[in-house]
Amino acid sequence: MQLSPEQQAIYDGAEGPEMALAIKTLVRYGESFKAERLVPIKSAHLTGSFAISTFSGYYELLGRLADAGVKVKVPTTINPRPGYDFSTQNRLIAFRKQKHHEAQLAKLGVTPNYSCVCYHKSNVPSFGDILGWAESSAVVYANSVIGARTNRNSIMVDVCMAVTGLTPEFGLLFPENRKGTVLIKLDIEEMDDDALGFVVGQRVVDGIPVFEHFPFNETSLKNLGATMAAAGGVGMFHVLGVTPEAPSAEAVFDKEPEVWRITQRDLDAVRYERAKQDETGMVVFGCPQMTLDEIKEVAPYFVGKKVSKRTLFHIVPHDYDELMKLPLAEQLIDAGIELHQHCPLAAMTVRLNPKNRHVLTNSGKLHYYLAGAEYGNLDDMLRVAGVKQ
Ligand code: F3S
Repeated sequence: MQLSPEQQAIYDGAEGPEMALAIKTLVRYGESFKAERLVPIKSAHLTGSFAISTFSGYYELLGRLADAGVKVKVPTTINPRPGYDFSTQNRLIAFRKQKHHEAQLAKLGVTPNYSCVCYHKSNVPSFGDILGWAESSAVVYANSVIGARTNRNSIMVDVCMAVTGLTPEFGLLFPENRKGTVLIKLDIEEMDDDALGFVVGQRVVDGIPVFEHFPFNETSLKNLGATMAAAGGVGMFHVLGVTPEAPSAEAVFDKEPEVWRITQRDLDAVRYERAKQDETGMVVFGCPQMTLDEIKEVAPYFVGKKVSKRTLFHIVPHDYDELMKLPLAEQLIDAGIELHQHCPLAAMTVRLNPKNRHVLTNSGKLHYYLAGAEYGNLDDMLRVAGVKQ
């Protein structure tokens, strides 16, 4: 890899051994993808927001950087908190070093947004910006819906990008790698964003799906992308006439594409069997975390009623604060809904109470990652929560 004189100086230790380690990590990472140089980034987003012992190498790196007084060189946000107070086992065992971890992040100058929906308000890129983001749901949104450019980076290299302000140039940073690989035609009566993301993500793996025109709103694009990025390895998708790099099929394909037809039957097959839904202990919304707009979309189903199953909303902290200023917050609490700001996956990975083992969620991502989490569309969720027949 060819480094600039400034980058070479950091590599050689001009800014201390910790920064040399950071840039060497990026060089090794880039070389494994045949990158030829490191390029500046506009912002970083980190995934390592939780303190668990299995990531000891990450915490060691973070500690070394923080103790050496290193600061992030670009605006840097961080994923949701893991639900330290959600359960006794989280507080006493899984995340017992959480407060220390957050103090280290603060020392580095990381913005304490604690949300994977960073692109919503706290770290909003512009079209064409080069980013050094981790968190697959944020990466796919930045690339697809905003038209910024980032690879699917991982924990550890994300911190190295934040403190150097650099990323290796490869993959989705190049326009020729952002072209569609398959055209998705929709033969459905009732849109179900997450089920669609689940089906397409599993089939396309790390390709770039292009959906024929459909009027997805921002919430739909957020949830569709997050599920494709989890069920497959999708880093980018297009919707014809909706996402910024897809004004037409000619703009996104450089050759005649393969065409897949997704039917209602495909989407319905993702849903948990209705007959078994009685086993559900918890109804879980918000993975990625819900925005205030998303809460307002579902709130009318709950206001003035009482849930009959434990029902949880996981909310972007900024939007949680906004919600708390509205009468709607009290109305949702009166309906029996628990309002949380953490990541449900991190918080619920260890569930000792058998009543909580069976989860129903309308998040394709949570369904994919969390043991015991079955998928339901919005109707299923409302029915199992006891607010709709
Ligand atoms: Fe976000 Fe946690 Fe889901 S990071 S996408 S709420 S798994």
